Amino acid sequence: MIESDSGIMVTVAVIGGTGKEGGGLAVRWALNGYRVLIGSRDAQRAAARCEEWNQELGGDYLTGMANPDAAAAADIVVVSVPFDAQPEIVESIKAQAAGKIVVDLTVPLKPPHVRTVFLPEGGAAALNTQRILGPTARVVGAFHNVSAGKLKDPSAEIDCDVLVCSDDADAKVDVIQLVEAAGMRGVDAGPLANVVAAEALTPVLLHINKAYGIKTAGIRITGLPS
Ligand SMILES: NC(=O)c1ccc[n+]([C@@H]2O[C@H](COP(=O)([O-])OP(=O)(O)OC[C@H]3O[C@@H](n4cnc5c(N)ncnc54)[C@H](OP(=O)(O)O)[C@@H]3O)[C@@H](O)[C@H]2O)c1
Repeated sequence: MIESDSGIMVTVAVIGGTGKEGGGLAVRWALNGYRVLIGSRDAQRAAARCEEWNQELGGDYLTGMANPDAAAAADIVVVSVPFDAQPEIVESIKAQAAGKIVVDLTVPLKPPHVRTVFLPEGGAAALNTQRILGPTARVVGAFHNVSAGKLKDPSAEIDCDVLVCSDDADAKVDVIQLVEAAGMRGVDAGPLANVVAAEALTPVLLHINKAYGIKTAGIRITGLPS
């Protein structure tokens, strides 16, 4: 059981959790001791998606609600929405996310050239999230290089590492714990400025998928103590 310092179960809100990446992570966290809220632009869509998952999982693991309500009720907020939608969605939870850990996994992609690195205005999507939310939000970049295909089966082992970037050392520790709860190894990859590299790696992995006829290329950091 994952608990906060006060001994209460940690609540994670996954904004855009009705989707592929956030949904895969949400199910893994729910099965591994976190209270998980699925946020959506449409509370009914979130509730319907959670009902499906809960039936599959055989328990009341996930609860759906509107994005701002999920963010308000959470200790940790995870933003898992498409790059184009990210500024508006982050703005919509700004008040509710104040002072909280906000995990951003947005990958800047410029369709149709999704296999070519696209550096957005502002340097990186997660840096823009920090700008929108202001200095009190404890923004952490993570999960950019984990394919949703790998997360699909919650019992499957995942052969990849997760780069975790933030200016807040304590937030990084909590997010590395979240990475482990989702079945991966989290690696402290430095300040939030370094998230540029993690975001830019994903188009490279998408290219590798195509070049080698695979679907879920990932990354491993070598040389770390085991
Ligand atoms: N898929 C992957 O393999 C993968 C891997 C690493 C990182 N990522 C990153 O993770 C984020 C989420 O990826 P995903 O594949 O889960 O995306 P997705 O399934 O296309 O979308 C996730 C959710 O975002 C919400 N959303 C909010 N505004 C939207 C808009 N304007 N258009 C469409 N959906 C909108 C939707 O939820 P509601 O309609 O319920 O609001 C949707 O279910 C992206 O930034 C992506 O780059 C994805």
